[in-house]
Amino acid sequence: MSATNSRIPVAIAGTGSYLPKRVMTNKDLESIVDTTDEWITSRTGIKSRHIAAEGENTSDLATEAAKNALENAGIEAADIDLIIVGTITPDTLTPATACYVQHNIGAVKALAFDVSAACSGFLYAMKVAQDMIAAGTYKNALIIGAEKLSAFTNWSDRNTCVLFGDGAGAAILTASKEGQGRILATELGTNGSQTSILNIPGGGSACPTTIANADQKLASLAMQGREVFKHAVNVMKRSAEAVIEEAGLSPENIQQVIPHQANLRIIDAIADRLTIPNDKVFVNLHKYGNTSAAAVAIALDEAHREKKFERGDNIVLVGFGAGLTWAAVAIEW
Ligand code: COA
Repeated sequence: MSATNSRIPVAIAGTGSYLPKRVMTNKDLESIVDTTDEWITSRTGIKSRHIAAEGENTSDLATEAAKNALENAGIEAADIDLIIVGTITPDTLTPATACYVQHNIGAVKALAFDVSAACSGFLYAMKVAQDMIAAGTYKNALIIGAEKLSAFTNWSDRNTCVLFGDGAGAAILTASKEGQGRILATELGTNGSQTSILNIPGGGSACPTTIANADQKLASLAMQGREVFKHAVNVMKRSAEAVIEEAGLSPENIQQVIPHQANLRIIDAIADRLTIPNDKVFVNLHKYGNTSAAAVAIALDEAHREKKFERGDNIVLVGFGAGLTWAAVAIEW
């Protein structure tokens, strides 16, 4: 028996998500920057995004998503051993956003920390939690992707401000019980040679915000769109293929692919290259825009609640983001 086979199989016991109340449409953006609904829709597929209220923090969005996931899984917060939040927009540089969530939901015995892997953050969190449960270290994990990207957006830059939104998604991972599915395969990767094509250049220790640079809005997302697009298509296709092969699946027995929600053209290109029909590829970016680490998590929850897949079906999650980072997971639900 290989080391992998001797590990405890891990299932997803429940999912949840939360979107802040305020909706900002493409029409609304027309009065903020020089753009049109037609340009945004045709280049990205995005029609609207949700924007957190002032004082509504990433941890607040994460907390609501976590409560939904706990309810969906039928697990009490007190029984959670581990909380991992994937985010690039933490409430504070320290402590981790996961610590606020731990307190908010009353998961008093849980170890809590964040992972910073941009749009791949939720799937990185899934892999870490899976390995800790598979090794027998912990029983129940809460993983969350949560972002308040509106706080790190340059609202005068039309190249970026039309793309992003706020939100959170969560999942509960447990040791798989009789009749439950399991995570079949995961593939994660990083290419640190491309850090400059997608980043938040300011606000960290390399470039703190000062009075002298405050008007340059350096603590906001900057992106070379075309370069990112190219990498996104190639890397997500390769990563999805890797888990499909490792899990022994083929396009015909995959019920749903849940990709990162950045651009409809990226999703269509991946579906095409994987030869997966469009009706088996989950899309909700028209409603939420790109919510980075939250995107796959929210999409997983929506697809789950819309019964796009059922117990026993195979699904594939795939993400890509700044770093560059990427991740794919094949799951028997
Ligand atoms: N409204 C109107 N025009 C806009 C605009 C907007 N919001 N944003 C950019 N433009 C203009 C540009 O200024 C450019 O004008 P120019 O040709 O006169 O210079 C023109 O539109 C075309 O820009 P380009 O960058 O070539 O567009 P594109 O077809 O590559 O689409 C993105 C731009 C950003 C939508 C696309 O590159 C993309 O989605 N990239 C990947 C983004 C992504 O996935 N990011 C997150 C990864 S996790």
